[in-house]
Amino acid sequence: MQPQLTTSFDTPFEEEVYQGLMAYPKHLSSKYFYDAEGDALFQQIMDMPEYYLTDSEFEIFDTYKQEICNNFSSGGEPFNLIELGAGDGKKTKILLRQLVDSGIKFTYEPIDISQNVLDGLENSLKRELPELAVATQQGTYFDALKKINAKDGTRKVILFLGSNIGNLLHPQAISFLKQVQGLMAPGDLFFIGLDQKKHPQTILDAYNDPTGITAAFNKNVLKRINTELQADFNLDAFLHWEVYDPESGTAKSYLVANSPQTVNIKKLGLTVNFKKWETIHTEISQKYDDETVTWLSEKSGFRITEQFTDADGQFKNYLFEKR
Ligand code: AVJ
Repeated sequence: MQPQLTTSFDTPFEEEVYQGLMAYPKHLSSKYFYDAEGDALFQQIMDMPEYYLTDSEFEIFDTYKQEICNNFSSGGEPFNLIELGAGDGKKTKILLRQLVDSGIKFTYEPIDISQNVLDGLENSLKRELPELAVATQQGTYFDALKKINAKDGTRKVILFLGSNIGNLLHPQAISFLKQVQGLMAPGDLFFIGLDQKKHPQTILDAYNDPTGITAAFNKNVLKRINTELQADFNLDAFLHWEVYDPESGTAKSYLVANSPQTVNIKKLGLTVNFKKWETIHTEISQKYDDETVTWLSEKSGFRITEQFTDADGQFKNYLFEKR
């Protein structure tokens, strides 16, 4: 028998956990925060007073729903409303209701990494907007791109709300936006929500609440490794740490080992050692300004046609079209 030289993985989760914990410095992807428990924690985050993002975008939609929906429906021909990372749809429902009430023909296609969240969304829409045609799709943003078929013929309006793109560094964001742009036809629209640079303390508070909800959310990736990959991370041995660089606008989340740790991950046949104060980088939440958004849009072949903001200027939604 040949010794096994390569490791094979059953899932992308296994492979990414293996790579991320073998790397130096260690990292894990924030997309793995979102299982049923992570979804519930993110729900609690959105309800926290410190997490201003949701309220600000909600305010924008509530204030400008008519203008926004007029832009979406342009000539009045039917379109597909595709939402990347739809989540619970709480904010989107303002726009959905507005579109339904004005008799515009469209189908809603929410895409999310969490099947759990999609099931909840589908059920609530059946109750709240029974006349709406809904087709959900489970997958990552990159899976989602494959579903956006440029040759389908129907006009597309693509939503990417909640500053979700902030989980990507600029080069990855540009590559993602370019791919979206490449799937769009002239006349299609891209509507994106981007959190703005602001007082650094406001940002730190949003990602470091005193009740520890964000810490639990961050540690949920370890909890998933424990249950799904038969590991023995001691969650109490890691602290949640948030930093914000006001120059780059990048907020970063870490898990920091407060003592030396040895972790066994049975499913991967892997033992991982942590020195005291060793880190796992888990998330970035990028903040933007108009110059950066213009730069990103131009780099990826878009033009900004409209923008909307809340009264305090915390958050902005931008309409992009193909250049
Ligand atoms: C869902 C990616 C927009 O980065 O603000 C909230 C996730 N992380 N608190 C964000 C999150 C910590 C959130 N996004």
